Amino acid sequence: PEAPLLAGKTVTISAGPTREALDPVRYISNHSSGKMGYALAEAALALGAHVHLISGPVALTPPPGCEVHAVSSALDMHQAAMKLAPTSDVFIGCAAVADYRAADIAEQKIKKQGEEMTLTLVKNPDIIADVAALTAQRPYTVGFAAETQDVAQYAQGKLKNKGLDMICANDVSQAGIGFNANDNALTLFWGNAQQSLPLASKSELALTVVKAIAGKLN
Ligand code: PMT
Repeated sequence: PEAPLLAGKTVTISAGPTREALDPVRYISNHSSGKMGYALAEAALALGAHVHLISGPVALTPPPGCEVHAVSSALDMHQAAMKLAPTSDVFIGCAAVADYRAADIAEQKIKKQGEEMTLTLVKNPDIIADVAALTAQRPYTVGFAAETQDVAQYAQGKLKNKGLDMICANDVSQAGIGFNANDNALTLFWGNAQQSLPLASKSELALTVVKAIAGKLN
C-alpha cells in the first residue's frame, strides 16, 4: 500500500482522444488509447485522492472509485474541465485534444465529391491553458506534450506558453512507447528543473508522476 500523500485532495485527470464530428457518421481523432490517463487516475486513487476522470471515447474500464465524466469532443471536454477545475487541487491534462474541429458539422452524411475536397477547420479552445489561467481557484496544473522532434524544447515552450506548473514530455516518435503502448518514458519539466523517467510500464510511471506532483503541493 502507498502512503496517502493525496488524502483530502481532489485530482481531475483528462484522458484519451477527442472526436471531432464531420457529419453523422465521420469524425477526426487520434491514436490515444487512454492508457496513460487511466493509469494516472489509478495512481492518484492509490495515494488517497478523490479522482475525477474526464474521459474521451476509449475501450478501457475506469479504475474503481473514480468519478467518470464521459465526453466526446474537445468542446465537451473543455466544458467538463472548466466545471471541475475550480474545486480541484490538481488538474492533469493527459488527453490528446484535437487542436481543430470542423467549422460546420454537416447535418446529413457528406456525399462523395470530385477528386479533391476541402474541409474547413476552426481552432478548439486550449483546455489546459484555460485551467492554468484560472485566478481565484486555480489547481496545480500539469500538462503532457506529445512530440516527434525537439521534444524538450517544444515541451518547455508549452510549459511556459500555457502557464503550466509542470509538463510531462512524451517522445512519441520512439517505438514501443507513447500512443497505445503499455510502456512509456517521460521527462518532467517544472520551473527550471527537469527529471527523466526512463522506460517503464504506464502504471509505474503514473505512480512516479503523481508522487512528484504530491511533493509540489503546499
Ligand atoms: O492515451 P495513450 O494511448 O496512453 O497515450 C498517452 C499520450 C501519448 C496521449 C499521453 O502521454 C500524452 O502525451 N498526452 C498529450 C497528448 C497531446 O495531445 O499533446 P499536445 O502536445 O498536443 O498538447 C499539450 C497539452 O495541451 C496536453 O496536456 C493536452 O491535453 C493539452 N491541450 C491540447 C490542445 C487543446 N486544445 N487543449 C488542451 O488542453
